[in-house]
Amino acid sequence: MATVRLDQKSRAIVRSISDSYINALAKYFGSGPTDIDVARQQHRAYAKALSANGVEVTTLEADQNYPDCVFVEDQAVVIDGHVLLPVPGHESRRGEQPPIADFLSDKLQGHQICKMEPPAMMDGGDILRLGDLFFVGRSTRTNDAGIKELKDLLDHLGHELRIVDIPPQALHLTSISSTPSDNIILAPEGYLSPESFGELPDGCEVIMMPNEEVYGCNTIGLPGNKVILAKGYPTVKAILEAKGFECITIDMGQIRAADGSLTCCSIFY
Ligand code: GLY
Repeated sequence: MATVRLDQKSRAIVRSISDSYINALAKYFGSGPTDIDVARQQHRAYAKALSANGVEVTTLEADQNYPDCVFVEDQAVVIDGHVLLPVPGHESRRGEQPPIADFLSDKLQGHQICKMEPPAMMDGGDILRLGDLFFVGRSTRTNDAGIKELKDLLDHLGHELRIVDIPPQALHLTSISSTPSDNIILAPEGYLSPESFGELPDGCEVIMMPNEEVYGCNTIGLPGNKVILAKGYPTVKAILEAKGFECITIDMGQIRAADGSLTCCSIFY
């Protein structure tokens, strides 16, 4: 069975919702946020749920020049002593990275910073980790040059990388899947199949969820068999409960409206 990676779940960065959030990119799950106060309330509840479940949360200030800056997951990925700073796949989001890079460089002294350069591009939301096995979404935000840079890093670290082609109706790999534990992948029918992930290590499985619960497939697994999931996805919740998880449910309505999922709003380091 894959090694448990829940050890990297003790600290997280989140970023407040920008005054310009109403203009956030929205093309997949949502047609744009409509209520910034509710969005902020939901985001505060999200950060509180992380803290209440043992995560030390640092909240970075929003930047009103970047409507999508709350979605920090896309801007940096911490892997085994390395901080990967990708070139975000949407031009409007490229200026979000510096405060996140500065924070991580300061907190993680001794980690190697790996800065991607164009034409490579990648959103952190296209990276999924199952123990020591990695998956990357080839999407409108992540190109082959970006995938090659990630593969070079993972080869160096001795980890395997598999490519998952993201269907046109989805933004990122993590928009439609997650690993609530280091031996389970959740994925939606109509978007992905068990074969999308190839043969998994012994003891690991892909659990397919109904197409209409695609948004619910994005979860955050925490130590102690806890999992945070979005409110309103009963099959996902029932299956995780049957697997022995304690489910913590959060209303993500105004985050979803900007195509954001639970994992989009944090970087675990
Ligand atoms: N609204 C999130 C994104 O499109 O990157």
